[in-house]
Amino acid sequence: MNSRSNLKITPLTPRIGAVVEGVDFTKPLTDAIFDEIHEAWMNHLVLFAHGPALTPEQHLSLGERFGPLHIHPAAPYAFGNPALMQIHTDASSKRNNGEGWHSDVSADLEPPMASILQIHQTPSYGGDTLWANMYLAFEMLSDPMQRMLEGLSATHSANYDGYYGDHQPQRENPVATHPVVRTHPVTGRSALFVNSGFTKRIEGLTKGESDALLGYLFEHIKNPNFHCRFQWRKNAIAIWDNRCTQHMAVWDYYPETRSGIRVTIKGDQPFFKPRNGEGSNA
Ligand code: SIN
Repeated sequence: MNSRSNLKITPLTPRIGAVVEGVDFTKPLTDAIFDEIHEAWMNHLVLFAHGPALTPEQHLSLGERFGPLHIHPAAPYAFGNPALMQIHTDASSKRNNGEGWHSDVSADLEPPMASILQIHQTPSYGGDTLWANMYLAFEMLSDPMQRMLEGLSATHSANYDGYYGDHQPQRENPVATHPVVRTHPVTGRSALFVNSGFTKRIEGLTKGESDALLGYLFEHIKNPNFHCRFQWRKNAIAIWDNRCTQHMAVWDYYPETRSGIRVTIKGDQPFFKPRNGEGSNA
């Protein structure tokens, strides 16, 4: 139990993830509670909490507590509000949103800082989500590999054409070039910032070199030593930091339904601050 309040933070693993108890996310968070949650979030990278169901307004307000909201380029949304992204998979689905490792919409010039997902309907079993700690993914690489990656940038792009069926996209497909290693703007720590969902090409390398290096990094990211796996219950909430994590949603429950709403918070343009503190390749 935290000495400053009734907040209880229980790590899910030593490496990433913690469950928060003692806070009612349907109510506005005081500055003191928000600061405690934010501190726990910076330490554990993804926070989990259990019910009750948030109304759309409460979910939006919770997101806005972290910052201005991000609009997904193409995903269907609920209640006529593009900030309420629908996460829904059922027997008629051709794909499951987020089923490969990714950081949300990293192809945006300013990729989302955070995402807050509440799952309202769970399958009987399965439908877990995994998160990976990208600080550790970077730190577990050898020093020469870290040094090489620190100088590189990669292009991220998304092609949502036809991806969401008849739904008309909100805006054009995003494309952006970001540093392969980004400096977290709050913690100052270095995090690996390439993902198999969006990262297509490392700039300045031949295609063969880029494919080989990205292929290696995408495999490295799959190392369970820096993962956590969350088993959803109805109305559970996850709040994750897209700047230093990746996640994937497991689709092992076909033909059952899994459904929820995600509110996403805007981020800033990724930058890399070299170890000696000089300059930036943002
Ligand atoms: C996503 O936001 O990528 C989906 C995560 C999930 O459905 O668990």
